Amino acid sequence: MSAYVIVGMQWGDEGKGKVVDFLTQYAQLVVRHQGGNNAGHTLVVNGKQTVLHLIPSGVLHDDKTCIIGNGTVLDPAVLIKELDNLAAGGRNFAGRLFISDSAHIIMPYHTILDKAQEKFRGANKIGTTGRGIGPAYADKADRFGIRLGDLVDTDVFPKKLKTVLEYKNTILRDSFGEAPLDYDTVLKDFQKYADRLRPYAADTVKIIHDAYAAGKQIVFEGAQGSMLDLDHGTFPYVTSSTTVAGGVCAGSGIGPKHVNGVIGIVKAYSTRVGEGPFPTELLDATGELLRKTGNEFGATTGRPRRCGWLDCVQLRRAALLNGTTAIVLTKPDILGVVDTIKVCTAYEINGVRTLDFPSQVSKLSVAKPVYEELPGWKSDISKCRTWDELPANAKAYFLRIEQLLGIPVAIVSVGPGREETIERTSPFV
Ligand code: GDP
Ligand code: IMO
Ligand code: MG
Repeated sequence: MSAYVIVGMQWGDEGKGKVVDFLTQYAQLVVRHQGGNNAGHTLVVNGKQTVLHLIPSGVLHDDKTCIIGNGTVLDPAVLIKELDNLAAGGRNFAGRLFISDSAHIIMPYHTILDKAQEKFRGANKIGTTGRGIGPAYADKADRFGIRLGDLVDTDVFPKKLKTVLEYKNTILRDSFGEAPLDYDTVLKDFQKYADRLRPYAADTVKIIHDAYAAGKQIVFEGAQGSMLDLDHGTFPYVTSSTTVAGGVCAGSGIGPKHVNGVIGIVKAYSTRVGEGPFPTELLDATGELLRKTGNEFGATTGRPRRCGWLDCVQLRRAALLNGTTAIVLTKPDILGVVDTIKVCTAYEINGVRTLDFPSQVSKLSVAKPVYEELPGWKSDISKCRTWDELPANAKAYFLRIEQLLGIPVAIVSVGPGREETIERTSPFV
């Protein structure tokens, strides 16, 4: 039938989890295809909050299938904890959770190396989540990676761990002065993890294609955001995976012809966690107000998120990178506290005005935003459930975004809860 990609259009934390949970009502399969537990996706259903790091955000719908694809990196301890927490809340996974046996495993040396590399970078640190994501993806490209299929194979894992650990211990000790890891301890811990994860390990490529052939609707859940993409983001202040929509193909094993559309999640203002340029960042009281009102603190690390105005130069670039076909706008309810809303429509770089987002951080870090001002609505829109109920100034802001990006705003989210959602048109076009 059809497959849609849900992608973060900014620097992550756009509200992808909430939107995936909402849209899962129209799908049978929800697939994570990149990233790891650097992601923190928050769902609020019947007033209860659930934060997911690895399990797809469709999981709260008991009749839907969840897949963790080959393009992800998995920390088994985090994954098992997440499974246990969800099970304690009454969720059942039998026959509806499948994890790709080709997904790479985050090993203890990855987490140690992530932190050690950040320390080594000093003032040039990236501000990673410290979850071992970069080193795990580096090992995949370097072909030192251990995959779920290796982990759950009782013959393969001990041998593979022996060779890889010998090499990694050399690096830990000689390059970073870190204590080497004990083979027997790691082996014992990971054999326990393997026993827990073995029932879910599968060739997910086949499952996805069988579902597709059977006419099921598939939603691909992006993690992070377009500006954190390894190739197209604000390198080196990015994550280590392909976060733009194209990553779905390699990260799950489908061809481009299977993708019917790309639903871009846009927060009504901008946020960023970690280091790196952010042209519309507000370092003043308004930034503080947005952070406080929007509760902009990381769902994974608890770090305060940097806040700023919506940046349409950045969003137009994201639209190009993803081929975005529809927009879901999130958190405009937070803007109810400001008198005037600013939207960045162009940059001025070294005195030259441009509509184009620069590909190099050296240019982006000196870009000055050119703003257009719109009147705020100074009211609570979280109770609105239809487009017509929205105040005129809110509608005017949303329509201006639509116009600046040339992409329809299909859904407006007005609160964290599943029901706090306005469906204006279908995003499945
Ligand atoms: P994700 O990483 O893209 O899934 O986003 P996060 O879950 O990290 O951050 C988004 C935060 O905003 C979470 O706390 C959500 O519960 C919350 N949220 C999502 N949509 C809305 C919305 O429309 N309004 C408000 N007020 N909060 C929202
Ligand atoms: P979700 O899916 C926001 C950021 C980190 C850091 C950079 C690299 O919840 O939107 P990494 O640990 O990936 O090597 O860190 O990327 N980052 C995120 N920022 N939301 C995320 O995920 C992020 N995942 C990584 O803060 O700047
Ligand atoms: Mg998040």
